[in-house]
Amino acid sequence: ETGLLAAVEEIRELKRRKNAVVLSHFYMPAELQVKHQEGGIADFVGDSLGLSVAAKNVEADYIIFCGVKFMAETAKILNPAKQVLLPSFEAGCSLAESITGADVRRLKAQHPGVPVVAYINTYAETKAESDICCTSRNAMDIARSLGGDKLIFLPDLYMGRNLQTKIKAETGKELILWEGRCEVHEQFTPQRINGLKLMYPEAQVLVHWEVPDNTVSDALTGAGGVVGSTSDIIRFVGESQSRQFILGSECDLGATLRGMYPEKEFIVPCIKCPHMKQISIQNTLEALRAIGTAQEAMFEVRLEAEIMKRALAPIERMLAFS
Ligand code: 13P
Ligand code: SF4
Repeated sequence: ETGLLAAVEEIRELKRRKNAVVLSHFYMPAELQVKHQEGGIADFVGDSLGLSVAAKNVEADYIIFCGVKFMAETAKILNPAKQVLLPSFEAGCSLAESITGADVRRLKAQHPGVPVVAYINTYAETKAESDICCTSRNAMDIARSLGGDKLIFLPDLYMGRNLQTKIKAETGKELILWEGRCEVHEQFTPQRINGLKLMYPEAQVLVHWEVPDNTVSDALTGAGGVVGSTSDIIRFVGESQSRQFILGSECDLGATLRGMYPEKEFIVPCIKCPHMKQISIQNTLEALRAIGTAQEAMFEVRLEAEIMKRALAPIERMLAFS
């Protein structure tokens, strides 16, 4: 194994030589989130929506995607002329894996004419059967904008219920949900968050849309806080007068927040996404070394042309909306 500093140096050099950029999600291990201009390897760090927009605009030949498979697939669909390399195909997602294209076809047959909103945390074959995609950042606005009194939202049950609470009050619209769950965010139970609130009564609570709905209803009482996307959480902390926060989201977002707001304190029950943690400096380096060799195919995101075409439409609709 190459040591950390040597690996970072080699990655920076290989990116230049092989005309590659590194896109990195906020849940990556901290060393993969350091920006290139600050001596690290990431050309762009963001949430799933930000990464999609960044991927679409990449001009380099290669995108090295430090995130999970559904995100790398989305990058490939949005910029198919580029090679998208994923350092490990073990980087799955419990939400994306909870549903197939055939499941969506069955749902549509049961609810004819009802629009299908697919969370970006789905594989391409699921997106291909859907009308519009969303991320946690734009889900509420997209759900609001669709006509009719029903919509199918998939696959995250808890996020669906959290959206349902808001949207039903506003528009009376009913959501038909799937039984997917994020294996990280489902662990933020009311007991866990309430226990921390007793210990830190002044702290505001930051929870992702994917946490259970009964957690959300308790979390925001008392000192307040936010339920939202990763970017909503980051923005809320920046704008809040509070100095102390309880984070109900992925552990490494805690590292990101501490880096951005060193004057504030974050109480983080450290639950790591095992899929995101499959990506490391070491396998990122291996993906870059593989470019131009027989090993390159091992890292390459490949999708059928027909699926890519059909999955592009709902993603483009989402981006046009944003
Ligand atoms: P974001 O859309 O907030 O980046 O969420 C991605 C994710 O995997 C949440 O668990
Ligand atoms: Fe999927 Fe949850 Fe991991 Fe995000 S944190 S990639 S939703 S399992």
